[in-house]
Amino acid sequence: MRVEPAPPGAPDEIAGVLLDRERIRARIAELGAAISEDYAGREIILITVLRGGVFFLADLCRAIDAEVRLDFMAISSYGPSEHPGGVRITKDLDEDIEGAHVLVVEDIIDTGLTLNYLLGILRARRPASLEVAVLLDRDQRRIADLPIAYRGFRMPDTFVVGYGLDLEGRMRNLDYLGVLSDEVLDDLGLANR
Ligand code: PRP
Repeated sequence: MRVEPAPPGAPDEIAGVLLDRERIRARIAELGAAISEDYAGREIILITVLRGGVFFLADLCRAIDAEVRLDFMAISSYGPSEHPGGVRITKDLDEDIEGAHVLVVEDIIDTGLTLNYLLGILRARRPASLEVAVLLDRDQRRIADLPIAYRGFRMPDTFVVGYGLDLEGRMRNLDYLGVLSDEVLDDLGLANR
């Protein structure tokens, strides 16, 4: 993936743009069309894990030409010694998903552990179908092999911010995916990613 220069006014930490707004928009339109075709005549419950995924969700659901409902979960990770790969649900769904067509919408999948754990929880609630849509598939560190039905982009093992992804809570609202400068990556101990 080519990195374009940072736009004027970008935060100092941003060294360049990996995916600009137009490429993201065009890819989401394609994903929305595929989802609309696959689920024609059926209602879908789109489930997103707070917080980063809400940006992708907001754009994806408007690219889908089908009945959709939205629901949200929030989780916090256990420390590695408590429950490796496990997550604790801090906000559960409001919808009952038994018998429903469920599409989990994630901004990024890295190791896959979060989603693997969540899919296990959701599957136990017996939805009619359970699929995954992810904007960014960063698969170099994948531990849990996941069935991804709708994938926006495969991406290199690079730390990115914007379009929902944060640096210590900041920069989620950038409308592109940016890469950080070497100085910032060094400071964060991420230089060798
Ligand atoms: C991101 C993403 C997934 C998880 C993926 O969330 O939304 O939930 O990381 O990582 P994994 O595949 O290695 O398990 P994050 O923890 O950054 O939370 P946020 O959305 O609130 O920023």
